[in-house]
Amino acid sequence: MSISIVLMSCNNDKMDNTALNDVIDPIEHKIDSIVSRMSLEEKIGQTAQRGKSSRVKKLPENLINAVRKGEIGSFLNIMDKNDAKQLQKIAVEESPSKIPLIFARDVIHGFKTIFPIPLGQAASFNPELVREGSRIAAIEASTSGIRWTFAPMLDISRDPRWGRIAESAGEDPYLTSIMAEAYIKGFQGEDLSSPTSMAACAKHFIGYGAAEGGRDYNTANINEYLLHNVYLKPFKTAVDVGSATFMTSFNDLNGIPASANQYVLKDILRDQWDFEGFVVSDWNSVIEMVNHGFAKDAKEAAEKAANAMLDMEMTSTAYQDHMKELIQEGKFSEKKLDHMVKNILRIKFRLGLFENPYFNPNEDILYDKKHLASAEETAIESTVLLKNKNNILPIPITSKVAIIGPLANAPHEQLGTWTFDGEKEHTVTPLDVFKKDSNYSVQYSAGLSYSRDRSTTGFGEAIKAAKASDVILFFAGEEAILSGEAHSRANINLPGAQEKLISELAKTNKPIVLILMAGRPITLGNIIDKVDGILMAWHPGTMGGSALKNIITGKVSPSGKLPITWPKEVGQIPIHYNHKNTGRPVIPEEFVHMDSIPIAAWQSSLGNTSHYLDAGFLPQYPFGYGLGYSDFAYSDVTISTTNPNMGDVITVRVKITNIGKMKAKETVQLYFRDLVGSLTRPVKELLRFEKITLDPGVSKEVIFTFSTDDLAFYGPDKKWITEAGAFKLWVAKHSLDETNELEFVLR
Ligand code: NOJ
Repeated sequence: MSISIVLMSCNNDKMDNTALNDVIDPIEHKIDSIVSRMSLEEKIGQTAQRGKSSRVKKLPENLINAVRKGEIGSFLNIMDKNDAKQLQKIAVEESPSKIPLIFARDVIHGFKTIFPIPLGQAASFNPELVREGSRIAAIEASTSGIRWTFAPMLDISRDPRWGRIAESAGEDPYLTSIMAEAYIKGFQGEDLSSPTSMAACAKHFIGYGAAEGGRDYNTANINEYLLHNVYLKPFKTAVDVGSATFMTSFNDLNGIPASANQYVLKDILRDQWDFEGFVVSDWNSVIEMVNHGFAKDAKEAAEKAANAMLDMEMTSTAYQDHMKELIQEGKFSEKKLDHMVKNILRIKFRLGLFENPYFNPNEDILYDKKHLASAEETAIESTVLLKNKNNILPIPITSKVAIIGPLANAPHEQLGTWTFDGEKEHTVTPLDVFKKDSNYSVQYSAGLSYSRDRSTTGFGEAIKAAKASDVILFFAGEEAILSGEAHSRANINLPGAQEKLISELAKTNKPIVLILMAGRPITLGNIIDKVDGILMAWHPGTMGGSALKNIITGKVSPSGKLPITWPKEVGQIPIHYNHKNTGRPVIPEEFVHMDSIPIAAWQSSLGNTSHYLDAGFLPQYPFGYGLGYSDFAYSDVTISTTNPNMGDVITVRVKITNIGKMKAKETVQLYFRDLVGSLTRPVKELLRFEKITLDPGVSKEVIFTFSTDDLAFYGPDKKWITEAGAFKLWVAKHSLDETNELEFVLR
C-alpha cells in the first residue's frame, strides 16, 4: 500500500491536493511527472482496454500500431505469451511515455488448476482455503503475464434463476465480505509488486445480482437502505482490504446505469470510501447505455461515464472516439482525465510493471501437486451433505456400486462456468477414481449422455447396472454452460430426462445417492423422496472426482454449509434467510395448505400470514445448512453481558462436542436480530462463524467477539447507526436453528 495521503475524489478541492502528494509520496510524484508530459491522445489511450478475438490468430496491425503510439492502456484475453511479450516490448520501448500495459483475464476460480465455482467455495465457510486457492490462481495465471484478474464477483445473489449466482458467494453480505477479503488477499498476495501477484477486481459495482426476475443484465431496483445494508457491504470490504480495481455492472440501478452512476462511483466509492485504485467498465457497458436509453449515442455515453469517473473502458471505444472532442467542447475536463490516468498508473506502479514489465512463462508450476491438493481440499470442504437417510453415506468400501448419470464422467462440465484455461484432460472425474482407485466393484452406465439429454435409450442399461449393485451413485446436475453469464433459467430443476431416470431407478428399490454438480441450487420436489442421500458438489473443479471419493467412501466427513437458501419451488424466489418480519409473520401452527381449505370457504384473510398456500413458508434447506457423518452437541452457551453499553465488545462462548464416531468439521454460526429499529430489521443476520475440526468425543470452546458497531445499519438519517434496545442472538447450526438463544439489551 502506498503511504501517500492521496485524496482521490474528483471533486476539485480534493484534486488540488496533488501538490501535497508530490511532496509526500515518490510514486505519486512520478505519476504526476509522467502525466504532465503525456499528450492528450496518450492519456485517452491509458483509459482504453482492448481485446483480441481468440478466433484471430495473428495480432492485428492496428492494435500493434495503437500500442506503439501509446493509445492502449490494457489488454484482455491475450493468451498467446509471445503476443503479450511483443505488445509489452513495444509499449515500454517504443511508445512515447513507455508506460507498460496491464494484461487482464477472467481468472475466476482457478487458472489451470480449477477450484470449485465461487458459490461452492463460499459453502466451505473456510476463508483460508479460498485465500489459498486464489493465491494459486495468481501464481499460475501470472506465468502467462496476467497481472489483473476480473474477480472476485461480490454480487449478493438471492435469485438462483440468475446464472451468475454460480460466480457469487451467495445471499449473505457478511459471508460475501469474508470471501471478498480472502479472494483479494489471495490474488494480490502480500505484495502486489511481486511477479506472482494479480490485481483483484471487485465486481460488479453494483446491483447486478438484483437483476429483475433473475434475468441477466436486467434492471435493478434497490432502495437506498437495501443498497447500503446489503449490496454495498462486500464492496466496502474490498476497498478496506485494498482491492486494486473495481468493475461496474451492466445493469441500471434505480434508473441510472451503473457505468455512469455518479452516486455510487463518485459519492460512495471515491468520496466516502477513498478508493485509490481504478474502475473499469464491463464489456461494452459504456456504449450499452445507448440501449438503456440513457445516452443518445456513444459520445454522450462517454461523457456520462467519464463524468462519473469511470476510469477505463473495456472493449468499446466511446472514450477513444469522443473524449478529445468532449474536452474541446468543455463537456469533460482534461484535469478529470488526468485524474483517471493517475488512478490507472498508480496500480501499474503498485504492480511493479514499470520496473518489471515482462513475465516468466514458468509452465512447471501449472498443476503443481500442491495446487491439486489444495483444489481437492477445497472441493471436499465445499461439498454439502443435504440428506442422509438411514446413514446411507458413507458407502462401505466393499460395496457393489452402480455409477450412473450424465455428470459421473463429464470432465469439461465439472470444471464449471467461465473457466477458459482449465483443461478437461486434467480433470479427475468420479468415474476415474472409482474405477481405478477404490475397493468398490463398479458398474458404470451413464443412462444419459449429458444433462439436457431427453433420450431414454440408455435407461435399460442403467437399470441393469443398478439391479446388479448394492447402491446407486447418481451423478446429476447441470452442464457448465447452464449457469454463468447470460445463462439464467426459469426452471431450476434437473434438466433433460434426469428426473425420469431417477424415478425409474427408484423402482429397483436400490438405495440412491444423488450427487449434484450444478451452478445453483436445484429444485428437487419431484425426486427428493426417491433418493436416500444427497450431496451438493456444485461444479467442483479439476479434483472433484477425488474429493467426492473421499467423502463417499467415508475417508472424510462432508462439512460444507449452504451459502444460499435452497428453494423447494421456483415460485418461492426470491427467498433468503435474512428477510424482514412483516406485520403478519408466519405462524407455523396456523398454516393451512390450500388442499385443506374447505370448498366455498368464507372469504377472509384472517389466520393467514406471509406464506404461499401451496408451497408454505419453508425452503427446502435453509442458509447455513449442511450435515456431516458425525454430530455435534452445543452446550454452555454464555454471553459476557446482557446489558452492554454502546461501544462495548461482547463475547459469546459455546462448547462444541463431537458426539459422533468420526473426526469432522463443524461451522458454528452466530446470528443476531435487532428487535426494534428506526428502520425495520431482518429477522436474522449472520454476525460471525467459525469452522472447527474435532475428533470424536472431543470438545472445544468457540469464542465469538463483536462490538456494538457490528450491529449498525444504514438508517433513515442516511447514516450508520447502532440503536439502543433489545437484541437476540443465536448460536446455531444453520439459519433456522433457534435452539441456543441469547438476549441482551443495549444501553
Ligand atoms: C462480462 C462479465 O460480466 C465480466 O464479469 C467479465 O469480467 C467480462 N465480461 C470480461 O470477460
